[in-house]
Order: sequence, then C-alpha cells, then structure tokens
Amino acid sequence: MPLRVRLTLWYGCALAMVLITFSVVLYVITARNLRDDVDQSLEETATAAVRSLQERGFLPLIDEEELLSQFPELARIDKFFQIFSPSGTITIRSPNIRQHEVPLSRTALEATFNGQTIFESAKYPHEPPLRLISVPIIHRGNLLYIVQVGTSMESIEDTLRRFLILLIVAMPIALAVSLAAGWFLAGRALRPVDAITLAAQRIAAGDLSQRLTMPASPDEIGRLAGTFNNMIGRLDASFRQIRQFTSDASHELRTPLTVMKGETELVLRRPRALEDYQSVLESNLEEIDRMTRIVEELLFLSRADMGEVKMESMPVPLKALVEDIHRQATVLGQDRNIEVVLGTVMPALVQGDELRLRELLLNLVENAVKYSHPGGKVEIGLGTTGQEAILSVTDRGIGIAPGDHAKIFDRFYRADDARAHTKKGTGLGLAICALIAEAHKGRITVKSNVGQGSTFTVRLPLAPTSA
Ligand SMILES: Nc1ncnc2c1ncn2[C@@H]1O[C@H](COP(=O)(O)OP(=O)(O)OP(=O)(O)O)[C@@H](O)[C@H]1O
Ligand SMILES: [Mg+2]
Repeated sequence: MPLRVRLTLWYGCALAMVLITFSVVLYVITARNLRDDVDQSLEETATAAVRSLQERGFLPLIDEEELLSQFPELARIDKFFQIFSPSGTITIRSPNIRQHEVPLSRTALEATFNGQTIFESAKYPHEPPLRLISVPIIHRGNLLYIVQVGTSMESIEDTLRRFLILLIVAMPIALAVSLAAGWFLAGRALRPVDAITLAAQRIAAGDLSQRLTMPASPDEIGRLAGTFNNMIGRLDASFRQIRQFTSDASHELRTPLTVMKGETELVLRRPRALEDYQSVLESNLEEIDRMTRIVEELLFLSRADMGEVKMESMPVPLKALVEDIHRQATVLGQDRNIEVVLGTVMPALVQGDELRLRELLLNLVENAVKYSHPGGKVEIGLGTTGQEAILSVTDRGIGIAPGDHAKIFDRFYRADDARAHTKKGTGLGLAICALIAEAHKGRITVKSNVGQGSTFTVRLPLAPTSA
C-alpha cells in the first residue's frame, strides 16, 4: 500500500476516534446539563409552592382557582402540579393536566413519607416523557400533603434529538473534508520523496551527474536530499577517480611496452651484430624494471586501499634512518652534482614499519634530487616537538605551483613543470608517501615557491617510550 494511502488512513482513523469521542462527550454533557436545568426549575417551582402553603398556615386546599391565585408560577404553561393527600389520592391539580391521570408512584410515596424530596421520570405511551418532583409538606412531624410538580421533557428531547442528528450528519462531512485535506497534504509532503526516487532511478541507470534540485531546507526531506546529493557526489568522484586511475595506469604501462616493441622490431628487421642485440636487451630490461616498479607500486596502493597492507609496529630510531638515507642520497646526487646535506638531526623514536618509513623518506629525497637544478643543494633535517618527530626534506629546485600543492599527492599526478624538467617518474611516489604517513598516524605537508624550491615535512607521533 502506498505511503500516501497509509498516512491518510492513519490520519483518518485517529481523527474519527477523536471526533467520535468528542461528540459522545459533548452529547452526554449537553443532555446532562439540559436535564439538570429542568430539575432545577422544577425544584424552584416546588419550593415556591411549599413556601406559599406554609404562609397560608397549611390550611386544607379546596379550590384550585384560589391556589393558582396564590402561586401564579404554578400556572405556567409548561408545568403542571398536583397536591396529594398522604394516602396518595389527588386533592388538587392544575388544569393543564386534566386529560390524563398522573398518579403518585410507590417510590415517591415512600420517599415523601420519609420526608425526602424525590425526582422521577415517567413515560406514558404515545406521549412525551415527563419529569416529576415530589416534595413532602410536614407540619409538626405529620405528613400533611405531597406537592408534585411536573413538566414535559418534549422540547428537551427534541433539542437533543436534533443535536444528535446534527452530530451524525456533520461528523462524516468533517471526516471527509479532513481526509481530503490529509490526502492532499500527504501528497505534498511526499512529492520530494518521489523526486528523490526518480533521480535515484536515473542515477541507477548510470547517470552519476544527476543531482536533486531541491530548495535546501533544514527539514527531514532537505537533509535527505542533501545527504543523497553528497553521496552521489562522492560516488561520482570515486568512479571518476577509478576511471582516471585505470586510464593513467594503462597509459604508464603502455609507454615502456611501446618502446620495447619498437626497439625489438627494429633490431629484428635484419641480422645484426651481437652488441646491437645486447644493447636492445639492456634497454628492454630497463623498461621491464620500470614496469615492474610501477606494477609493484600499483599493487601496494591497491592493497592499501583494500586495507591489506600489513605495517609492522616496531620502535624505529629515525636518526639512524635519516643518516642512512643521507648516504644513499649523496650517491644519487653525485651524477648531477647535487649536494645532499644533513641539517640538525635530533634523536627520535617512532613506532612503525622501518622499511616503509625508509621508502617514504627515500621517495622524498629522490624527488628533491630529481627536481633540483644541477649543482643544487638538498637538506635533510630531523627535529622533535613534545609529541612529534618532524622530518624535513628541503631543496632549491623547480618548486611547485600553489594550485598543485594538493594535487601532487594524487596518484599519477605530475606537474607540468616537473614533466618539462624530467621524463622520469610516474607520479605514484608521493601518493605512497602519504599512505605510509597516514598508516603511521602522521601527515605530510608541503611548502613551496615556484623556482625557489620546496620543503616537504613529515610529522609522525613519537613512540610512547621515547617521551
Ligand atoms: N621536490 C619537489 N620539487 C618540485 N616538485 C615536486 C617535488 N616533489 C614532488 N614534486 C611534484 O609532485 C609530483 C608528484 O611526485 P611523485 O613523487 O608522486 O611523482 P614523481 O616523482 O613524478 O614520480 P615517481 O612515481 O617516480 O616518484 C611530481 O611530478 C612533481 O610535479
Ligand atoms: Mg617521486
């Protein structure tokens, strides 16, 4: 069953319950009030009658004309009265009751005998119901008379009946009107949900560029739409990234393959000297090395993505590691006459995987050397703050444009300056560095000015024991 129908039904049921309860309570209270009013007015009339009789000194009553002149309120058209003797026989009664006998009931007789006033309802066939009050008149301990005042309940019953009909007719109308309103409102409230469903269907069909166009409201639907758009945005980005990654990876692998193929074909075209074969095989080996490295790096990255890379967690003395890397880097720099120096190096112990940390630092130093100008200088430093070890690699090379600072950590990203500077490189080094730093709960930052050089800084939390 659609949500709209269910909502409307629930709403209708709740409303019907409220309406019915309300009507019943209203009817009961109104009926009670109307009847109480009748009783009160009967009582007032009876009290007046009794008072007049007292004023007359309880003389036996004979004449009803006389009685009516005594208490004119008894002659009111809507009430009749009767005066009974203690035996229950009628002494006097008002003229408006002539056509019909209304005898004193047993209960009334007994109650008045005991000195009590009593209300009764009476019903005669084919006639409106009556309401009666019977009041004893006691003089010196003796029951002299019983005064009974009565009235027809016709008008009240009529009023109540009309009221009931009104309620019965009005209730379904009110219910129908509010159900229609509920249906309309539920439809309105659910319309954005429909829009979301449609968009989700389009997106499921493959169009990740779709977004929900909904006014950003802070309500549930607004939040849902926001979350949804956010989610699609991320999906879109990560799909794009995957596609980009795949195409970059294929491209990177195709280049060495093309080179190898070209060289191999060329050398096979006609018989050659042994040295020629040798040199092609050497060149091919280089390309194979390069491809192996790329594939290994890719493997590392994809394993890291899946959380499958195991990092050791051993104490690593960074000072020794830095000194070691410095030695390696010095060799690296010799070719292009780049000087690699050690800045301040303080002892620092971190918890982690020594091989990975070595790889991280080596990547940074390799970059520094690679992107330096011949004759340049690279400086490696190691400091500590209270909680962190701070590794830094500074060069005076080509530098990085501000817009590239965030991108250089992306896989396969290489700045144009860098491409112009050297052909070597796939753009995976820094992505791996960032992953390793992250795995050690650290981070890498870069400060750089184009043409002036760059400083890469790695912050790693110190091992607890070294504090
Ligand atoms: N020290 C640096 N000076 C200037 N640019 C740098 C430096 N280090 C990194 N970069 C920029 O960041 C990019 C990404 O570096 P990364 O180490 O990831 O790739 P790469 O060095 O080009 O290739 P490889 O995968 O072989 O390391 C580089 O291509 C270069 O544009
Ligand atoms: Mg690199």
